Amino acid sequence: MEDVADAIRRLAVRGAPAIGLAASYGLVVGVRAGDPSVPPLERFERAARLLQSTRPTAVNLRWAIELARSVAETSADGGAEATAAALLELAERLAERQRAADLRIAEIGAELVEPGDRVLTHCNTGPLATGGAGTAGGVIAAAWDAGHLGQVWVGETRPLLQGSRLTAWELGQAGIPFRLVTDASVGTLMARGLVDRVVVGADRIAANGDVANKIGTYSIAVLASRHGVPFYVAAPLSTIDPATATGAEIEIEERDPSEVTHVLGRAVAPDGAPAANFAFDVTPAELVTAIVTEAGLLHPPYETSIAEALRP
Ligand code: MRU
Repeated sequence: MEDVADAIRRLAVRGAPAIGLAASYGLVVGVRAGDPSVPPLERFERAARLLQSTRPTAVNLRWAIELARSVAETSADGGAEATAAALLELAERLAERQRAADLRIAEIGAELVEPGDRVLTHCNTGPLATGGAGTAGGVIAAAWDAGHLGQVWVGETRPLLQGSRLTAWELGQAGIPFRLVTDASVGTLMARGLVDRVVVGADRIAANGDVANKIGTYSIAVLASRHGVPFYVAAPLSTIDPATATGAEIEIEERDPSEVTHVLGRAVAPDGAPAANFAFDVTPAELVTAIVTEAGLLHPPYETSIAEALRP
């Protein structure tokens, strides 16, 4: 289970939905392989604390742990093996639910893309980030399959390069035409009229529709608004956090400054240069044209559309 936490912390597993799923499997291991003298619920809580501490921004992690906690509490009387089996069943269910949500998001989102559109995306939101078809990545793939897509602009996504390392790979595998650009190119692309639509994923969406996503997303949204380019967010309902009223309450992960001063292990700044490394930013709801979820397309005012989508 420490291995799962470590994999999440060092981004071997990353992307909001994939983090939640990895944690739900990690809890199975935590209960099954824990100290036999420790009761199952205590093993669960120890694993939950460790997994929760890995990354603070993506709410899918907390969401998965809370669902698992209620399963653990109702199965703990049967012993550790029964608890682990119930947690495994939940993890499989959540993985299946994510795959189904991704397909629906892709289907709904693809309708927003018009033939020939040049779609800009940021970070990585395809199969590597969700275990299914992806969120924004799934929309892009479905739009391509439907013949609704011209090409994709992929921002490299400094500092860890999820765009150039992961999204470019996924698009290449799928045969979808793309061009990689530096993150700072977005203004120029839009000013030249080369972007028809933005589609990005999310790590947490507040009850008012504010969206936390990979650092750089907010700048893209401001530019999209300036240039009249629609800005869509694609995310499963598990990424919406009704307990977070606005984006101001979202904890933004700050990672090791060495990720900024070094690229792939090589220094790109003078020795000892101070750096700040915010992993995410918050895009205010007013800049979001619509949110694509498995429950349908959510429009402003998001307080209302989000509350309706989450109603049981
Ligand atoms: O730091 P990462 O790589 O976990 O950040 C991932 C993102 O910001 C994605 O855009 C987001 O999780 C949506 S994933 C479908």
